[in-house]
Formats: sequence, structure tokens, C-alpha cells
Amino acid sequence: MFSATCVAPVNMALVKYWGKRNEELILPINDSVSMTLDANEMCAKTTITASESFKQNRMWLNGEVVTFEENARLMRCLAGVQRLALANGAHKFSLSWKLHIASYNNFPTAAGLASSAAGYACLVYTLARLYELPLNEELTTVARQGSGSACRSLYGGFVHWRRGSSADGSDSIAVPLAPASHWPNMHMLILVVNDARKKTGSTRGMQLGVSTSSLIQHRAKEVVPRRVKELMAAIESRDFQAFAEITIKESNQLHAICLDTYPPCVYMNDVSHAIVNFVHDYNETVGSLQAAYTFDAGPNACIYVLAENVPRLLAAIQLAFPNDAQQSVEYLMGIPVPPVELKNGLRDASIGHVNPNNMLKYIIHTKIGEGPHQLSDDKSLLIDGFPLPK
Ligand code: DP6
Repeated sequence: MFSATCVAPVNMALVKYWGKRNEELILPINDSVSMTLDANEMCAKTTITASESFKQNRMWLNGEVVTFEENARLMRCLAGVQRLALANGAHKFSLSWKLHIASYNNFPTAAGLASSAAGYACLVYTLARLYELPLNEELTTVARQGSGSACRSLYGGFVHWRRGSSADGSDSIAVPLAPASHWPNMHMLILVVNDARKKTGSTRGMQLGVSTSSLIQHRAKEVVPRRVKELMAAIESRDFQAFAEITIKESNQLHAICLDTYPPCVYMNDVSHAIVNFVHDYNETVGSLQAAYTFDAGPNACIYVLAENVPRLLAAIQLAFPNDAQQSVEYLMGIPVPPVELKNGLRDASIGHVNPNNMLKYIIHTKIGEGPHQLSDDKSLLIDGFPLPK
């Protein structure tokens, strides 16, 4: 019996992936760029055990049974890693041995916080450890076939997913742009908004977008290539002003495309728009871009902010979005933030926009982080190949 247990991070897109040119291979119509988030706050954790005695491949996700063999994306990831293992030659056990897989997300799947990216990255990375394969470009093409955004979670720091041009997808790979240590004070506040589960999943939303939006091709051809270049330069020179402007415009364009889709896909809600207004007012009051929001296929806001500006921004958020649970550990999660008094101007600006109570469910404070890593076996989720009883 052989086992591997690994942890993989969530990533948040700066230049968004939205639209495929090949559904099956998950080939995007444009490049995207993301930042990997610290796995201490949010991660997927996966244990995989291989045994000669297992009769079939089995999987448990957050303790629930997953019908593995019927899930095309899971099967494609497994087949992809096994193909690499076969080409690699050396492995400790036969590729015919069946696998038991247990995976957990340490954050709510329903919150719409990119759980599939961390989950598929963790699956593929753990398989690679089990079959003793290196992390390389080819492995990112396998993770991509689980969920497009998952290929970016195989690296830490800032990551570029190149769309590629070959029909077989071999050049649609993720490459690291800069490690987390390049911009270590890059932090994020995630404002989880009170809302039901997301309406149209991103897979379906982007399908509809590609077939009905007349703006989406213009975005892919004209806008994204320019923005990727500009963003890469902003990251390289740690220019937060340029970084923030590109990030905000990218988020807005994604949601403009969603509205241009027929029928429209609406992901942001009134609270999301209240957050957008708040961030623009905040930046204006402090006199520079200190907060940059981005929204994926859901209403939650991810706000990029440098570490030194977190206490002030958080204090303003707490004023503008009051919550009954404001001081509790369940409301404010992640890296602790020292309290600060807001200066008059900012106080007035925030108070000028006080929203009704409890529009936010909770806030997570996190930061830029490293790529996946392996844990020692004693932390595994499977004991003798089976999950612990709940
Ligand atoms: C809005 O990677 O979840 O988060 O490839 O169909 O699984 P599939 O889609 P997915 O889409 C993520 C879209 C996004 C933007 C991004 O992460 O770039």
C-alpha cells in the first residue's frame, strides 16, 4: 500500500479566464493571470492511497462519496497523470492498482470561492507525488483538464496561464511569473456576501458567453493581450497603482461580458455593487488606489490591498458594512489585524455610506502564498485506505 497527502492553494484571477475554444480539453480563448493565496487560510487537502487489494477507484469529497468513474473530469486527470507515469517509466507499484482518494476543502464550497481550482490542483499534485512525477508544464496541462483555473494553483505567487495555440492543448500551460517572496506584503480581504448558491456555474456561464456575447471575442483578441503585458510589468515593478487599475477593470469587464450574454448571467448582487462603490470612494478619500476589488462567478468580493494598508481599510469596511457579529472570530477570519482609529476624513466618507446591518457573512484576511506541498503520512485523511468515520 502506498499513500501521499498534499495541500493545494486557491488562486484568484487578476486577468480573468472566461471562455473556452475546446470544451473537452478545457482550452481557453485567452490568457489569464492569477495570484495564489496562502494555503494556511484556504486550501484543499487530499490523501490518495494505492493498493493491490482495492477493487475499484473510490473517492470521498468532504466526507461524501463521489461517483469517480462517472466523472469525466476526474477520470481525465487520473488518465493524464498515469500517462505521464507510464512515459516516465519508474514507479513503485503497478499502474493497474486502484486508488482511494479523500479530499477536503477547509473553506465552504458553497461560498463560491474557487474550490474547484484548489481541489483539482490538489488531486493532480497528489497523484504526481504518488507516482513520483515532477511538477512541470505537462502536469499543468493535466490539472487544466480538471478545471481550467486549477492549472494556476500548481504554483505559488503570480501565475500566467498561456492559452496556447495547438489543437491538442499541449502548449496551454501555467507558468510561474514571480514567487510569493517577490511581493510578500500583497494581502487580500475576502468579503463573503450573504447570498444563496451561485446561479449559473462558471462552466455554463462561459459557454453561453462564447456562443452569444458579441463583446467576448473583442476582449479575447484585443483587450486581454494588452492587459496581460501591462499587469506583468506592474507585478515586476511592484506598482500597486497600475496593478489595482488593471485588476478592477478586468473584474468589471468579466461582468460586462456576463451581462452581454444571452440570457444574461448575473453574478454580482446589490451588496457586491455596494462594495464596488465603497472601494472607489475609499480610494478617492485616501488619494490613491489602495484597494482593488475583483469578483469571480459569484457575489463575493476579493480585495487586494498591501499589508500596511489592511488595518485602515478593514476599519472602514467595518464602519460601512456593520455586522452584529463584527468582533467575533467567526466573522473575522484569517490573519489577525490590529485595530486602528480612522481619521476624520475617512470616517466621514465611510459613515456617509453606512449600509444596512449584516450584508456580509464573514471576512477572511489572507495573503499571497506558495504552491502545493506534500505532508507527512501521519496527517493523512485515509487510514488503511479508508476515510475516518464522521
Ligand atoms: C471566473 O476554472 O471554474 O473564476 O474550466 O469550466 O472548470 P472550468 O471553469 P473554472 O472558471 C473560473 C472562472 C473565473 C475566472 C478565473 O479564475 O480566471
